[in-house]
Amino acid sequence: MKDQASGLREKMQFVGNHPENGDIPGSRVIAVASGKGGVGKSNFCVNFALALSNSGYRPIVIDTDVGFANVEVLLGTSPAHTILDVLNGMNIWEVIQHSPWGLSFLSAGQGLTDIHSLTNDDVELLVAALAKLQDRYDVILLDSGAGMGSHAGRLVVAADELIMVTTPEPTSITDAYAFLKMLASRGVLPKTHLIVNRAHDIADARATGVKLQMVTERFLQLQTDILGYILEDDAVVRSVMRQQPLYYTFPNSRASRCFNQVVKNFSSSKSNPAENNQGLRGFFSRLLRRNSPSGGESNSSYSG
Ligand SMILES: Nc1ncnc2c1ncn2[C@@H]1O[C@H](COP(=O)(O)OP(=O)(O)OP(=O)(O)O)[C@@H](O)[C@H]1O
Ligand SMILES: [Mg+2]
Repeated sequence: MKDQASGLREKMQFVGNHPENGDIPGSRVIAVASGKGGVGKSNFCVNFALALSNSGYRPIVIDTDVGFANVEVLLGTSPAHTILDVLNGMNIWEVIQHSPWGLSFLSAGQGLTDIHSLTNDDVELLVAALAKLQDRYDVILLDSGAGMGSHAGRLVVAADELIMVTTPEPTSITDAYAFLKMLASRGVLPKTHLIVNRAHDIADARATGVKLQMVTERFLQLQTDILGYILEDDAVVRSVMRQQPLYYTFPNSRASRCFNQVVKNFSSSKSNPAENNQGLRGFFSRLLRRNSPSGGESNSSYSG
């Protein structure tokens, strides 16, 4: 008799390795960010993606946290290629990495942070290659760095949706608020969801989510929804140590069950079609428009 983990693995491998089955009507490009570092973004991306796969979604994780690439570490693998290999002529499907759990991921290398120092031709090539992802993946999760000091802010404003991760710690909440305030001051914020990670119980989680939701609404006039809660769970730490994702290693842990609930909530939080902008193609055109000196007009390079 198969154990639960092997059943899950088979299901995930099917989803991950055979993405061409069926059409994908529109992909959701979602940046996962936080104010404070170390709150659980990378673990969230990996396990949320596995839970999404288990529910029939076709997610891909793009690790954009240059220099601190954690996704590959959590998956116990190292990518043979990064997005920059596309510039050397490699096919995008060869650049995508498949972890043993059927989870597809893409390492951005320096590709996304240095995008404004690439030539127009380079950028066109990258955009065309990356836009193909939306033919096979319906949820594109960008694991970004913490805070505004990184390139995270640029990625976030270009995404269709933002998942803001916080823990119940006051410093994490205030940093999340500061991050959202900074983005709001730039005038554009994608549809924003909140995830409370490492809460001791549901009451603690809910109080944290509501607190952040209230201050952003009151002081930033920003509506957010609470996408869900991930409870504090030693199984997360053990899975990190094993370099095997929690959702696969401890499928019955309380944190894994939280991920299932987050997927349910996610399924009912449809992205607004009016705001949902052509998936990755839209994402990159917005990313470049905001970074190019002349607001998206044709330039010989994106430096400056
Ligand atoms: N729900 C949880 N329960 C217990 N521990 C957790 C939980 N979530 C995260 N952790 C712990 O927090 C650590 C940091 O998590 P993670 O690397 O995902 O954070 P991050 O926000 O991506 O960090 P960075 O900002 O450095 O990229 C994990 O290695 C794990 O030990
Ligand atoms: Mg991380």
